[in-house]
Amino acid sequence: MSIKPTLQPEIRERFWRARRVAVLTGSGVSAESGVPTFRGEDGLWRNFRAEELATPHAFQTDPCLVWEWYNWRRELIAPLKPNPAHQMIARFEEHFPQFTLITQNIDGLHQRAGSRNVIELHGNIWRVRCTREGTIAENREVPLSEIPPKCSCGALLRPDVVWFGESLPEGALQRAIEAASQCQIMLVVGTSAVVQPAASLPVIAREHGAAIIEVNLEPTPITRLADQSLLGPAGEILPRFK
Ligand code: OAD
Repeated sequence: MSIKPTLQPEIRERFWRARRVAVLTGSGVSAESGVPTFRGEDGLWRNFRAEELATPHAFQTDPCLVWEWYNWRRELIAPLKPNPAHQMIARFEEHFPQFTLITQNIDGLHQRAGSRNVIELHGNIWRVRCTREGTIAENREVPLSEIPPKCSCGALLRPDVVWFGESLPEGALQRAIEAASQCQIMLVVGTSAVVQPAASLPVIAREHGAAIIEVNLEPTPITRLADQSLLGPAGEILPRFK
């Protein structure tokens, strides 16, 4: 039986005594729910990488292909449930007076686990946006009845997510930077920390004196900044913070 790493006593104490905590998550937090990560082998779809499909150029060139990919991802995510990592992060929110969850994920699983103060840096796969009017609507149709889906105005709809080369939703980055600058602890879970500007948030937190705790299957660029890096599955490691 392997022994899972756990928080060092002094870091555990610093964590539970903190008043201002920020958590940054990436696709690894949803991996144990069954959501494929981006950069692993299982991140591939019909031999395309996310970087080739999640771009404005790909959508302009072939909206059907891009929507087929999102339709596949929506079908895949729809039946999945939050795992113990999502649930533990939702419990942290109840404990700490000031708590901000910053996620790069678009799957909505944090909210389903009960998290409320969530900054979605990359949007949400369950919303669509009109390419002409910019109006945003929830859309949970699985599978989509029409690919590519259209707005009632006749224009193409697009997923309300951030693609490579696009700016983040208005206010989201500012709020995330504010949380990173103010927190006493930043917990970084399941992100390869290679996509900016999210990858800079732990650096900002560190510069402002926060302790960094990382949970990941493997070392990342954050590991060298971290006061403690816990290597293992988030769904097993986070419940051991108790
Ligand atoms: P990545 O696929 O780049 O990284 C996933 C990370 O999660 C890796 O470091 C894995 O080691 C780790 N991991 C996998 N399973 C885990 C588990 N059970 N417990 C803990 N860690 C685990 O995904 P992201 O970092 O989320 O952006 O990628 C960032 C952004 O790049 C995404 O939001 C997306 C993508 O392209 C856009 O689409 C704009």
